[in-house]
Amino acid sequence: MRLGYLISAILSVGIVLYVILSLFTPLTEVGIGVEVLPKEILLPLPTKTTSITVEESILMRKSIREWLNKPLTVEQVAMILWATQGVVEREYYGWLRRAAPSAGATYPLEIYLVVGANSVLLSGDAYLEAGVYKYDHRRHSIKLVVSGDRRYELWRASLNQDWVREAPINIVICAVYERTTSRYGERGVRYVILEAGHVGQNVYLMATSLGLGTVAIGAFYDEDVAKAVSASKNEEPLYIFPVGIPLTPHKMTFEELQRVYAELRR
Ligand SMILES: Cc1cc2nc3c(=O)[nH]c(=O)nc-3n(C[C@H](O)[C@H](O)[C@H](O)COP(=O)(O)O)c2cc1C
Repeated sequence: MRLGYLISAILSVGIVLYVILSLFTPLTEVGIGVEVLPKEILLPLPTKTTSITVEESILMRKSIREWLNKPLTVEQVAMILWATQGVVEREYYGWLRRAAPSAGATYPLEIYLVVGANSVLLSGDAYLEAGVYKYDHRRHSIKLVVSGDRRYELWRASLNQDWVREAPINIVICAVYERTTSRYGERGVRYVILEAGHVGQNVYLMATSLGLGTVAIGAFYDEDVAKAVSASKNEEPLYIFPVGIPLTPHKMTFEELQRVYAELRR
């Protein structure tokens, strides 16, 4: 009888300890390579994911504005974010080189991720919470800025372009001009805008290589986009990229392209 009490006491203590520990354990492994911390989601690390060459990606790139009603995977979103501003090398002097070039390595761009409800699959049937996140290039992670689906606000801000509201995610590129103008003066403004173009092309090519689609969005009300993503005061929106699975995958081959050139040269 006493032994029975002892065993049930040990079991009860064990269960209580387990519950307490799980309440206070910050790290939750959700899917392969995804770790959800209290205020941060560590994304799956970049890896060789596609077998498409750069020339194939350039050939297949096309602005896509219609999507399948399907979520993206966190692995796909992680690769796209990495292509925007992810680290590609630890420089000799200690700074971190990134996926896109930057005038004087001043890195003036900040990347926001707008996630819809049930739009990014973490694992099984677990989805990333709808909201606006900010990309942390150093940690290859995202941090929640504001909860809730902000695609409607973003759609309104971008002149009701339906592909913004209907895409599972939108990447919003914002600029902190002072980082570059403090070194280069007025010319720095040009450099920042050019840099956003580099990042945008990376988004296009990475999306294409992953079998996804995107479109560059330049037509929007700056202040309304800034509000939609809860951008900081010194961050000015430059570009939006909705990303989703194309409703109609675009196909093109080099053979077909050669026929196009043959015609053009006639
Ligand atoms: C700076 C810039 C702004 C753009 N703004 C928009 C936009 O607001 N909405 C849109 O649907 N497409 C926009 N586009 C996409 C262009 O319409 C598209 O690139 C062009 O039609 C060529 O097609 P392609 O990208 O499929 O080659 C923009 C492209 C650039 C480069």
